[in-house]
Amino acid sequence: MTVTEKLAKWYEKNGRDLPWRVKGGAHSDPYQVWISEIMLQQTTVKTVGPYFDRFLKKFPSVEALAAAPTDEVLLLWQGLGYYTRARKLHECAQVLVKKYNGEFPPDREKLLKLPGIGPYTSAAIAAFGFNLPEAVVDGNVIRVLTRLKGWDQPVAAIMNQINAFADELTKASPCPADHASAMMDLGAGICTPKSPLCAFCPLNQECTAYAQGLTEKIPNIAKLKKDTKKGYVFWIENKNKEVLLRKRTEKGLLSGLTELPWNTDETFPFQADWNITKKNVRHVFTHFDLTLTIVRAIVPHLPENSDGFFVTPAQFKEYPFSTLMQKVIKKALTDKTEK
Ligand code: ADE
Repeated sequence: MTVTEKLAKWYEKNGRDLPWRVKGGAHSDPYQVWISEIMLQQTTVKTVGPYFDRFLKKFPSVEALAAAPTDEVLLLWQGLGYYTRARKLHECAQVLVKKYNGEFPPDREKLLKLPGIGPYTSAAIAAFGFNLPEAVVDGNVIRVLTRLKGWDQPVAAIMNQINAFADELTKASPCPADHASAMMDLGAGICTPKSPLCAFCPLNQECTAYAQGLTEKIPNIAKLKKDTKKGYVFWIENKNKEVLLRKRTEKGLLSGLTELPWNTDETFPFQADWNITKKNVRHVFTHFDLTLTIVRAIVPHLPENSDGFFVTPAQFKEYPFSTLMQKVIKKALTDKTEK
């Protein structure tokens, strides 16, 4: 049996029954998946239970949430913390009503563009709400994956590798929703941070950390000393004042988001009349601190070998940008006369 098959068999018997979960495929109401996932980002499964029930009772649908006064939403959130999340939740419900008839789009790209929905939540809604093959990678899942592989490097430094392995297992599974739940449950109940119950683990035969006695050392969550990086971000216009954008690959940092081309080595991507402005944008990521200088150029056509595309700034709102890119765009658009 493969890892995925062993895990599926274990889940059938041992998977938790949770208020926001169905077994055997997609949840009939992605709205419930979304609410639970946002709540679970800030507190434990046990605490979320009553909050989830109260919230669903008061706001049983996207429409009900969208129509509520903000204060009522915040009131039900009281005690959960991170109130900007509650505000975003409300805002997102209103966008869903306006743009999608109150339904979640069954598409990770579209989900990513919604307020308050980032890489993790978009994957969770796609997997649990639509049974799409998207890997849902939280702390529990990271523990299972790194131990299986025996990866002892700092987690923040190997997130690409971890996500790729998560994708590989997800794609091998006939039921992505159950697979995602199974990974979480294994991490929460068996593959625990301290004294994991390896004797009861369905994957103990495949587990490198178990074989080498390294479960206590993996995952390595030692704080990384933050690297500071400097680079350029390019505001490249064509003659129609459209700006060159590109889409990030599905894996790793800021995956799936749209961006202006940028680098961390202060080089130029091709020949042009580059104008290095005095505008800098700083952003702190989990494992590095980045300062980008805005560099401008006007080009006659799409540069050769470019995987980018031109879009007018007026259309930017149709694309999902990271916070970093939102800062860059705001800065680039504020004063066009700078040197
Ligand atoms: N933590 C985050 N999402 C979860 C889920 N769907 N089930 C259990 N624990 C979770």
